[in-house]
Amino acid sequence: GAPVKVNVGKIEAGQQMVAEWRGQPVFIVRRTEEILGNLEKIAGQVADPESKSSVQPTYVDPKTRSIKPELLVLVGLCTHLGCAPSFRPEVAPADLGPDWVGGYFCPCHGSRYDLAGRVYKAQPAPLNLPVPPYSYESDDVIVIG
Ligand code: FES
Repeated sequence: GAPVKVNVGKIEAGQQMVAEWRGQPVFIVRRTEEILGNLEKIAGQVADPESKSSVQPTYVDPKTRSIKPELLVLVGLCTHLGCAPSFRPEVAPADLGPDWVGGYFCPCHGSRYDLAGRVYKAQPAPLNLPVPPYSYESDDVIVIG
């Protein structure tokens, strides 16, 4: 499939947009300082904190799983059986519990991921959400693929 250009300039802090690449949803999130700080705090709770077994390009930072820390780019298919996880950025919502700091929740069998797409330990999903190949064409435009 051809690479896909996406203008990410209008994504607000803490929010997500969904693009499409090769027929797959791609989640793009503008992360805040608070979100980035949480990634460090919960590193001990995720199954593959530096994505050694998970799919991501070698040029992303292993801690943030991104080129620029603020912009997260993920293939939006659960690594269990391929459902689309829900974007749940809110902290401690009633249905996800007091420890939830924002992330992705898969409605099919309940897998939980953080806002770097890292799967928590002991979930049905074995691996982190993949990071697709991408690059920056300009500050506001990324090219996926
Ligand atoms: Fe996501 Fe099973 S497909 S938890």
